[in-house]
Amino acid sequence: MITVPLLDLGPQNRALEAEFEQAFREVLRSNAFIMGPRLEAFEKACAAFLGVKHALGVSSGTDALLLPLMALGLGSGDEVLLPAFTFFATAGSVVRLGAHPVWVDVDPHTFNIDLADAARKVGPRTKAIMPVHLFGQSCDLDALTTFASAHRLRVIEDAAQSMGARWQGRATMAAGDFGATSFFPSKNLGGMGDSGLVTTSDDALAERARILRVHGMQPKYYHREVGANFRMDPLQAALLHIKLPHLPGYNCARAGNANFYHQALKDRAGIGENRPGASPEAKILLPVDFTKQGIWNQFTLRVPHGRRDALKAFLTARKIGCEIYYPIPLHRQECFAQANYRGADSAKVSEQLSSEVLSIPIFPELGVEQRQWVADSLADFGSGKTE
Ligand SMILES: Cc1ncc(COP(=O)(O)O)c(C=O)c1O
Repeated sequence: MITVPLLDLGPQNRALEAEFEQAFREVLRSNAFIMGPRLEAFEKACAAFLGVKHALGVSSGTDALLLPLMALGLGSGDEVLLPAFTFFATAGSVVRLGAHPVWVDVDPHTFNIDLADAARKVGPRTKAIMPVHLFGQSCDLDALTTFASAHRLRVIEDAAQSMGARWQGRATMAAGDFGATSFFPSKNLGGMGDSGLVTTSDDALAERARILRVHGMQPKYYHREVGANFRMDPLQAALLHIKLPHLPGYNCARAGNANFYHQALKDRAGIGENRPGASPEAKILLPVDFTKQGIWNQFTLRVPHGRRDALKAFLTARKIGCEIYYPIPLHRQECFAQANYRGADSAKVSEQLSSEVLSIPIFPELGVEQRQWVADSLADFGSGKTE
């Protein structure tokens, strides 16, 4: 039996090992371990890659969300619209500032924020919207920016899973007041530890975020306001700078794997695509990149009829890695459930998806035999096999 991990970081990083070692030696010998030219060079390269004026390396993807919220002055009692179906950090960063998330439901086909539901939930205290380009597929950036300006909302794009994804040619991280991404190792541009990036094309916001990144300090040891230590290590920046030019290639390889799954499974019994009008009989629904410019951070199936956990056990028995992103919608998390944030009673799609989703291997270096084994196994499950 072939083993297929959900993610194998080894081959990608081994291919660049000599360059990483060289970069490590240079940083070591420079004795410059905080900020400095290596970080600036990486930031410049990211800004050029994304088509934004400013990019700031920060300590994590979570801090890449927190810092913009602070720079925009969001705080106690302010409301932020965000999807109920996403990773915890999107909401955690809002709550840490004393602001309130408003739970917006998501679209069942794109998994992204449902702007019609956002329109129903926007209120007088709502100051911002944080869309998440989940699993690597951009939200509709035109609809998003139109909605935000109609309601005078600030936009912070959570692009932790979408660096390099586009909507009709527009890059994610470049549409909002701020963009935020993560270089957590499992991301499309994965680092060797924690770090993240904040983007903006607004000079004043960039300046404010730069100051808040270093304890609100300007000039040295003078603090006009309270920031924190949100710095990215230059060593991490140097390593990521080596990987950055490879990102389009990694994204392309992921798209190749997604395309393979679709081709291999398109006429198989019990398998459909997760689009409007899909057969209600389908046992597995394959995710669709409606934008055709997504980057496939995850390839996330829907498994309806209460069979998701059965498929997970089936794949696990066949030594195929899979994971549930995410098993509980945010409004049901213990730490938020008591707080009575608005929108919790009408995020039904998020609840349904949490019980149906299952992500399967899509990483760029997935082998030809490995992905064939995954496709064959899905076909077996679709045709009714149970082991
Ligand atoms: C959608 C989303 N937002 C935020 C984050 C937080 O990033 P980090 O783990 O780098 O703090 C992640 C990554 O895990 C994520 O997937």
